[in-house]
Parts: sequence; C-alpha cells; structure tokens
Amino acid sequence: MAKDWSPSSWRSKPIEQVPAYPDLGALAETEKRLATFPPLVFAGEARKLKKALGEVAEGRSFLLQGGDCAESFAEHGADNIRDFFRAFLQMAVVLTFAASSPVVKVGRIAGQFAKPRSSGSETKDGVTLPSYRGDIINGIEFDESQRIPSPDRQEMAYRQSAATLNLLRAFAQGGYANLDNVHQWMLGFVSGSPQAERYGQLADRISETMNFMRAIGINSDSYPALRETDFFTSHEALLLGYEEALTRVDSTSGEWYATSGHMIWIGDRTRQLGNAHVEYCRGIKNPIGLKCGPSLGADDLIRLIDVLNPQNEAGRLTLITRFGHEKVGDHLPRLVRAVEREGRKVVWSCDPMHGNTITVNDYKTRPFDRILAEVEAFFDVHRAEGTHAGGIHIEMTGKDVTECTGGAARPVLAEDLSDRYHTHCDPRLNASQALELAFLTAERIKKEQEAHRPSQAVGF
Ligand code: PEP
Ligand code: CO
Repeated sequence: MAKDWSPSSWRSKPIEQVPAYPDLGALAETEKRLATFPPLVFAGEARKLKKALGEVAEGRSFLLQGGDCAESFAEHGADNIRDFFRAFLQMAVVLTFAASSPVVKVGRIAGQFAKPRSSGSETKDGVTLPSYRGDIINGIEFDESQRIPSPDRQEMAYRQSAATLNLLRAFAQGGYANLDNVHQWMLGFVSGSPQAERYGQLADRISETMNFMRAIGINSDSYPALRETDFFTSHEALLLGYEEALTRVDSTSGEWYATSGHMIWIGDRTRQLGNAHVEYCRGIKNPIGLKCGPSLGADDLIRLIDVLNPQNEAGRLTLITRFGHEKVGDHLPRLVRAVEREGRKVVWSCDPMHGNTITVNDYKTRPFDRILAEVEAFFDVHRAEGTHAGGIHIEMTGKDVTECTGGAARPVLAEDLSDRYHTHCDPRLNASQALELAFLTAERIKKEQEAHRPSQAVGF
C-alpha cells in the first residue's frame, strides 16, 4: 500500500479547482451518504483494464478513449448512450480490422461530469457569476442560483453514472456489440458519405470473414469474443470528495480502488506534484491517466511518474499528451526521451482536442485538420524516437452536432456552428468526423507496423 496514504490524505494538500460550496455541512452529509452507496465498478475490472493497457505499453495494442467533454443531466437518454456506443464501436472496429491491432476501449462516460475551468468566474453583459464547473457541481444556465455549487448534484451524477453504466454493460455484453451486427452500427445521418461507403466495405469484409468462420464451426454462440466486447469507463478525477466517497478496499487484494470508474485521470490544470489530485491518485490501484500539456517539464514528469507509478507497472500510467498541432514537435520529443532514458513503462496517448481550441463567431471550436495534424505529429515523433504511439483520447458524440469545423464527408463550416452546437463544455467530433479520424489513424497504425516489421525473406 502507498506509504502515508489514505483515501482522505489529499485533504491536507494544496488543491486547485475547488468549488465554493456555501454549505460545507451539507457537502459532508452528501459525501457520507455516497460512501454507503454500492461501487459503480469492481476492482477486478480495473485490474483487467490495467492488464490490457499493459499490452498497449508494450506496443502490442492500441487505446481508444473517447466521449463527451462533459456529460450532462439534460442529455441522459438511451438514444444518446446508444448512438455514442455505436460511433465508438465503429471507430474500434475500423482500428481493429483495418490496422489488425487489438483495441482497448475506454469511454469518457458514466462519470465524466466535473470540469476544470481557466477562470473561476464568467461575465456576461456586465454580470459576473461563478463559472460552470460541470453538472456534478453547478448548473450551466447563466443564472445566479444555478451557478451556486450544490452537493445534491453529486448524488444525481452517481445515479446517472450507474444507469449509464448499466446500459453500456448490456450493450457490450448482451449482443449489441456482436460482430454479426457490424452493418447496423452505422448511424443514419452518416450514411451516403465517403466514410459510410468505406465503412460499408469494411463491414462487408468482416461479414464475409464471419460467414467463413461459421462455415468451419466458429460462431458467436460458441466464441464469446465475437459477440461481446470489453468496454471500460473513465473520467477526470477532479471532484475529490466524490472520489473519496467511492474509494473502497477490494476484498480480494486488500488494496484501495476508485470505484467511480475503471480508469481516472489527472487534468492538465491539477497535476502539480505534492498537490491534492496527485496525492489521491497515487494511492488507488486503478489504471490512471495524466494529461501532459506544454507547461510540463521533463524532470517534473519523471518525478510525477516516481510518485504515480513507483513499481514501474506497465498499464498503470497513461500519459495523455495535448500540446496543440504546432507544438507537438517542441514538447513531445523531450518528454519521450526522458521517459525512455529512465526506462519508465507508460502508454503514450494523443489528445488532439485540448490544444487546438479556437474561438470562431463566438463559438469555441476545433478545426478538424488541426486535430488530424496533431495525431500525425504524434505518430511522427514516436516513429523518430522508436516508441509506440499507443492511443488517442478524443471528445466525440454519436450525434450529428456542429461543434468542430471541417471534416471531409460533410464539412462543418464556421457559419454552421450555431446549427447544432450542444456541448456542455468543449466542442466534440460528430460521428462522421470520428469515423474519418478512425480511418486515418488506422492507416497510420498500419504504416508504423509495416515500418517495424522485419523484411521478409523471399522464397522457401
Ligand atoms: C478535458 O479532458 O476535458 C480537459 C479539461 O483536459 P485538460 O486537462 O487536458 O485540459
Ligand atoms: Co474537454
């Protein structure tokens, strides 16, 4: 067990991004109640994910992590969850099949409610109110009463996470993810696009393969891997009182686990060594992520790894880099070299979203070509350094939103942004853009595999 650690030891450390709850007594009552509620995930599942991520760290697998920037109470419908899952499965199947690579599937879902903000307040027409910090903390409406942090929201978030997870488990294990359904995952509004056509061709090849396997006696009744998939959940561990309440001892191993999600990550704004968020995460045994932005020094990164992964366990730590498309070359090589020099086992994953946000017509947006450029640059650096480009971390939805500009299929123009701009925080890829990104990433993975494959001897 981590030395001098307890689920509450973060409380004595400096902390960033804390909501100003007006009634600390009510907050403590909520946390006490949450601590009596059932865990959302089991330690054994978190261990399974860690093992799968270990394969990514060793260069044998690829991580796909994605979902909303912020989940919302207003959009908690079955259709939303299903459409997200369909878009996500499509991406996963493209990556698996086109790149012949196992894919570890991790949603930013069933707990992704708390948001760090660059400013504590927001001013509109001369009125200043506390910033929106995610539905688990306060309301998005620009209204004084909505913006007051309310502890009751934590119970709402817990219950919504439980219901979302329940449906996701059913989808993943109950037949929806059956590879026989690969054609049906296509979302209506994407059809007719070049992506849809490409996906259709890939789905035909998969169906053909399934028919062949069926003919030789391998079918989804006898082989669960063909009809179910492992799907894991993740979120930023920002609201530590909530996380603490859901931190439980695993009866099998006697170790502490966060049971709010399978994987949790530390945001770029709260990763200070010696501060509360790093303190909390060092003691739980789940796989964890660390966002790495331009201000992270290589020495600081190594010190953070010392604290967060002292056993150098493959799969424990995923470094999620998010520099901005033009800055990858300035920052990623120095971090990769330090990690390699010190022999640390990590998963390198690329978040091409958070460093590429710009404002157009008063909308926060992300040009799709910059997102692609960051992914490309990420692969280039890993190629040059001889390390494994292990995954992507994206903000996406299964809905036909207009939040990120560009995309080849039906490009979103700057003037379209107001049409269907629904995000509760940052702009997300729509399903069509997400699929396009999956194809391009799959091509890139394939290229890397070919570059690494030893040249074949010719003839017998
Ligand atoms: C996020 O992932 O939504 C986020 C706030 O990212 P970062 O911590 O990298 O800014
Ligand atoms: Co975001």
